[in-house]
Amino acid sequence: MTSVAVINGPNLNLLGTRKPEVYGSTTLADVEQMCRDDAEALGLKATFLQSNHEGQIVDWIHEIGASVKSGDSIGAVYNPGAHTHYSYAIRDAIKGASLPVIELHISNVHAREEWRHHSVISPLARGIIVGFGVLGYSLAIKGIYELARSDGRIS
Ligand code: DQA
Repeated sequence: MTSVAVINGPNLNLLGTRKPEVYGSTTLADVEQMCRDDAEALGLKATFLQSNHEGQIVDWIHEIGASVKSGDSIGAVYNPGAHTHYSYAIRDAIKGASLPVIELHISNVHAREEWRHHSVISPLARGIIVGFGVLGYSLAIKGIYELARSDGRIS
């Protein structure tokens, strides 16, 4: 079965307890279940990943990029957390692996502190979803699926 990766960066393991007024009270385990169900409804298998470590995420991006090349994956829905705002290592990994990525933020980063307004990832993203809460994961899965279809990478 073709897979879609869902990658979560630093601190997203705390979802549900970290700043619930900003990120809501849904846990990452709830999001994982939602993503699995959404992917399955589209005939895909979700590979759900979270790490607080930049190097681990770089390695996953390389691996998922190779899976896209072999036709086993359609790409990644990615919430980079704070890496969004400064990680050139992750930006280079996405570019180097030619990984189709939908960048996703639970909160509306543009309505928050100024340092959250800039993303070093966005120029490499196929699409961006911001400010829909955890519903954004469902929207992003649907979005990357439709892009893969219009690219002719899945039928
Ligand atoms: C976030 C926004 C980032 O600025 C922040 O560092 C996060 C979460 C979001 O989902 O809204 O960790 O990516």
